[in-house]
Amino acid sequence: MLKFDISSQHPLRSSILSLQDKCLEMFSDKNFTLKAYDRIEIVFDDPKVSPFFIDWTSGKWAWRLKHSGKHSEAVARAVIGKHKDPVVVDATAGVGRDSLVLQSAGAVVSMFERNPLVWLLLADAKERALENSEFVDNFEHGLPNLMPYGTYIDYVKEHKDFLPDVVYFDPMFPPREKSAQVKKEMQVFHSIVGKDEDSFAYAQELMHHAKRRVVIKRPARAEPLFPCSYSVDGKACHFDCYAVLAN
Ligand SMILES: C[S@@+](CC[C@H](N)C(=O)[O-])C[C@H]1O[C@@H](n2cnc3c(N)ncnc32)[C@H](O)[C@@H]1O
Repeated sequence: MLKFDISSQHPLRSSILSLQDKCLEMFSDKNFTLKAYDRIEIVFDDPKVSPFFIDWTSGKWAWRLKHSGKHSEAVARAVIGKHKDPVVVDATAGVGRDSLVLQSAGAVVSMFERNPLVWLLLADAKERALENSEFVDNFEHGLPNLMPYGTYIDYVKEHKDFLPDVVYFDPMFPPREKSAQVKKEMQVFHSIVGKDEDSFAYAQELMHHAKRRVVIKRPARAEPLFPCSYSVDGKACHFDCYAVLAN
């Protein structure tokens, strides 16, 4: 079963405690511990599985963020296009990579995440990243804004005036990447998140909550969830863009 091991000094202790019951409900059948000391991490009972945590500031990923042409990333071309400083909702934050690409390319991003464990890992990744001024300096508008735990649609029910230019949606689909390392990392992430079975209905709902467009990421060989205005091709995926006419 899920266990907790939290330092009494941890800055996110109260957030962890407020999401503890939800985590216990969702992960009663999982054999891991949420540990919160220097960082928040998921430590598996099986010693062969490495602990899982989110780190925005080091490794291959951080290098790519720093050195890639910001607008050459397909997600930035699809979501930002020619707009200057658009307000973007990332409705499926995950480990926050797409949000960071978009924010570093000039968007002002608000991230939403409905998995309580992923939300806590993300909140911790942001806290630790904020301590690294060299990393933060990559972002004209600071780091993306992590919104309160929950979904974008639940948020707009309470905040009716909040209307971003673009909503980005990247629900969970099976990993295709070839490298063994990526596979392992993705397998662990999948074991925490599972499948997003409600993607189709949720995507349709999103169409009513963007000013300009909704962008949906899909695997390379998958059809768009429903017919789109146009598509931008990425490496192992495509970004289907839906012009929003109603707003
Ligand atoms: C494929 S991952 C997103 C990866 C992300 N684009 C990134 O770059 O790290 C999907 C994530 O969205 C979350 N999610 C799925 N549907 C959601 C919804 N309706 N509202 C909030 N979060 C959602 C899942 O819990 C999961 O963490």
